[in-house]
Amino acid sequence: MDRKLKISDSITASTWLFLIILMFSSAPLLSESGLSTNDKIFSKKQAKTGQKLYEQNCLICHDKKYFRPVFKSWEGQSLGTLFLVMSSSMPQGNPGSLPDKEYIDILAYMMSQNRYSTGEKELPTDVDKLNSITIKSRKK
Ligand code: HEC
Repeated sequence: MDRKLKISDSITASTWLFLIILMFSSAPLLSESGLSTNDKIFSKKQAKTGQKLYEQNCLICHDKKYFRPVFKSWEGQSLGTLFLVMSSSMPQGNPGSLPDKEYIDILAYMMSQNRYSTGEKELPTDVDKLNSITIKSRKK
């Protein structure tokens, strides 16, 4: 048969091979990204504790609806980054004044305001763990 066809066949084959290699090499990367905000990463009890802390420290400037668009605008980023920004800039006027655990509990409350599902576990203060959790839109 004619040569042109053969060449295009081999291009197709190598393209497929390339795609398959790409799939296998990127698969571990994808699974490494780990949990998302939909994976029941905080408890109801923790969100309750966070609510009290929020009322004491944040309510004067942010009503509870404030956090919904905030989570939207943070989609795709890690919870660790949000934690870092929040704990180093809030409450405005006295940033970083709360213990890490209290910022985390408030973060859990913020997630409950976005109606993410709760579970048995509490959201940890461990920054590496927080960095592996991706902020996603709530699963319905
Ligand atoms: C004295 C007022 C004040 C207090 C108290 C305060 N904030 Fe803020 N906060 C602000 C202002 C001003 C902004 C930035 C303006 C905006 O984007 O709405 C902001 C922004 C934020 C953001 C958005 C960050 C972003 O980049 O998306 C978060 C989250 C936040 N605050 C959390 C908190 C938490 C949690 C507390 C309590 C620990 C708190 N704030 C207390 C005034 C305050």
